Amino acid sequence: MIIAIDGPSGAGKSTVAKAVAKKLDFDCLDTGAMYRAVAWMAQHRGVELDDAAGLEDIARNCPISFGRDGGAQTVAIDGVDVTSAIRTAAIDRAVSPVSACPAVRVALVDQQRRIGRAGNYVVEGRDIGTVVFPDAEVKVFLTASPEERAHRRVRQNVDRGVGSIDYETVLADIIRRDDIDSNRAASPLKPAADAVHMDSTGTYIEDVIDQICGLARKKGAQGDEAR
Ligand code: DC
Repeated sequence: MIIAIDGPSGAGKSTVAKAVAKKLDFDCLDTGAMYRAVAWMAQHRGVELDDAAGLEDIARNCPISFGRDGGAQTVAIDGVDVTSAIRTAAIDRAVSPVSACPAVRVALVDQQRRIGRAGNYVVEGRDIGTVVFPDAEVKVFLTASPEERAHRRVRQNVDRGVGSIDYETVLADIIRRDDIDSNRAASPLKPAADAVHMDSTGTYIEDVIDQICGLARKKGAQGDEAR
């Protein structure tokens, strides 16, 4: 089964995806981390962000893998662990042009389909319900106000010790990225026609998690009610 969770950055997708996966005993696939890993490798190799052929070469030939370090998920590209390196402000800025490159998207969508269909997955991203898994059993479009998302991102950056912790800078960056992600030609951020809309502004995140688990159980997901 595939549970697709799409929405803008900072809407709470990662928190919700991890919790839903734990409750239902599913795996998690963070597709944003894959675009970030390609952006990191481009910087590492000195590939310009407008060099579509160079970016495509990375997306096609540098396999991305996910692992575990205790309870935390790790990300590697071409065998290099980039778990923390892909969360910096520099990668925040570089990733939008990388994810707007159609050839990169085609290559990563191939990888995402291969990974996701190998098991039961909660897949989070921007185009999961529309492009990657249009036949996903559960589709959720999760949003929150830009201000709420900026506050959350600041707290997250403090916890991780990376990224900007200045609220105004983070808010401006969120608004800029929403604009790029929603208006790009290739797979813009938009809800699937059959997605269930959920807004996590001022809502207990547990309610969102329970609602999604309820939708998945109706479609036959097992999982432990008590988890
Ligand atoms: O969710 P995130 O902030 O880690 O995503 C990083 C970038 O990748 C963001 O600019 C949106 C883009 N992205 C995308 O275009 N498609 C996806 N399925 C996932 C992320």
